[in-house]
Amino acid sequence: MSGRFEGKSVVITGASGDIGRVVARAFAADGARLGLVARNNAAAIAGLGTAVTCELLAPADRVRAGVEAARDTLLTALGGCDALILLAGLPATPALWNKSLEEVSAQDLHDAFAVDTVGTFLFAQAFAGALRKSHGSIVVTSSSAAFYGDVLGLAYAPAKSANAGLVKMLARVLAPEVRVNGIAPGGIDTGWLHSLSDADKAHASAQTLLRRLGTPEEIAQAILDLAAPGYANGQVLQLDGGVFPPKSDS
Ligand SMILES: NC(=O)c1ccc[n+]([C@@H]2O[C@H](COP(=O)([O-])OP(=O)(O)OC[C@H]3O[C@@H](n4cnc5c(N)ncnc54)[C@H](OP(=O)(O)O)[C@@H]3O)[C@@H](O)[C@H]2O)c1
Repeated sequence: MSGRFEGKSVVITGASGDIGRVVARAFAADGARLGLVARNNAAAIAGLGTAVTCELLAPADRVRAGVEAARDTLLTALGGCDALILLAGLPATPALWNKSLEEVSAQDLHDAFAVDTVGTFLFAQAFAGALRKSHGSIVVTSSSAAFYGDVLGLAYAPAKSANAGLVKMLARVLAPEVRVNGIAPGGIDTGWLHSLSDADKAHASAQTLLRRLGTPEEIAQAILDLAAPGYANGQVLQLDGGVFPPKSDS
């Protein structure tokens, strides 16, 4: 453990998720005091820090009030915020993940944008004052689909693409006090795999130069590096094991 977050306050959305739980434990092991946000599964993160719930799939005025209530509770408990890690995302259920272009509905797209993009924006907005004061940092979650496209996960990819752009916007408006970076995971060994057929699982591993999926621990390590003080700003780190076009004769 590096101790880079000793005595620092870190807020994590999506903290109850497969990646969020590992990220929370990694920050805790590095000495951070945690503010954790879940949709409703606060039990998954019990004992790791101050936990609150916040529903991002709700009418706009209620969402904003919910985000601000979560912010107020966490800032009171932690006394400030040095890093904001934005992992909340619409769960990748098999039914939604596998929808074809023809099957994706306007509601699917609204739901993904509401949780992944509007939720990310509203949390960044709500914590901007505290982060300016601490000269802190934000890590936004995008996805490899924003960079390579995909034939699956069509309902999610537009929101993750927007998040890659949001990194640049937030980095500009929050400069020079706050650094903002993003992480674009490829296939990570999490519950999302249940959405894939055996053939698609094999393809997800085989398309990487490392020939394997990533682990939540590897995502956590990268998020800690991006959140810690440094020179990286406005960048989206593609953490996907290396995905390149296949050789033309293969
Ligand atoms: N796993 C991968 O391979 C992969 C690849 C690329 C990008 N990502 C992105 O990385 C992030 C974490 O992934 P994961 O695999 O850990 O996802 P996950 O296990 O499905 O966790 C999703 C998290 O978001 C929260 N959430 C879901 N719906 C919400 C809502 N309506 N309002 C507020 N919070 C909500 C969940 O809270 P509850 O637990 O309380 O429901 C949970 O904490 C997501 O943004 C995902 O899209 C993942």
